[in-house]
Amino acid sequence: MGRISWACIIAPECAARISTMQTDRLSEPRALSTLDRMDSARVLLRVGIGLSALAGALASVPIVGYLLSPLRNAGKRDWVRVGAMSEFPIGETRLTTFANPSHEAYDGPTAMVPCYVRRMANDRFQVFAVNCAHLGCPVRWFPESGLFMCPCHGGVYYDDGSRASGPPPRGLFEYQWQIRRDELWVQGGALPTLATPA
Ligand code: FES
Repeated sequence: MGRISWACIIAPECAARISTMQTDRLSEPRALSTLDRMDSARVLLRVGIGLSALAGALASVPIVGYLLSPLRNAGKRDWVRVGAMSEFPIGETRLTTFANPSHEAYDGPTAMVPCYVRRMANDRFQVFAVNCAHLGCPVRWFPESGLFMCPCHGGVYYDDGSRASGPPPRGLFEYQWQIRRDELWVQGGALPTLATPA
């Protein structure tokens, strides 16, 4: 027991003071530990927010790419194969498809564009868009009557695609075509409309 302890025998208030000091000393490490825990929590919170922001940015890349793809591929035209010439007998009109040159991997079957191929002679073709020149409904070919008919408002077209009757203001839109090594190719890509004929 030191000098202070002996003094405290004489002065009881001193003992109370020493007791308070001992209590403070004991509680000090506990206070520091709480502060450490708060700092750690703040650091973890910031790391969590940073990782979440990074994950969000990475996850948004394909979404942004998808949203911007129409702008990136807008109006993209290219020559694409339709099929071998032997698939289109002379004197017949057949429904077929070609791959849209603007397609993406996730487009699936919707990347295939339907069209009508009419073969008049060995090296003479017409390739029609299936969309009616009125409001775009898909027309249907009737070989019995030699007419294309639109189911929406009664538009009718002759076998050469010219307008026969009904509301369409013009004939069917046609794709440019060419023959490459006994194969029929068309210039696809742009959706034919009155503003942008194929
Ligand atoms: Fe074909 Fe109207 S969309 S006649």
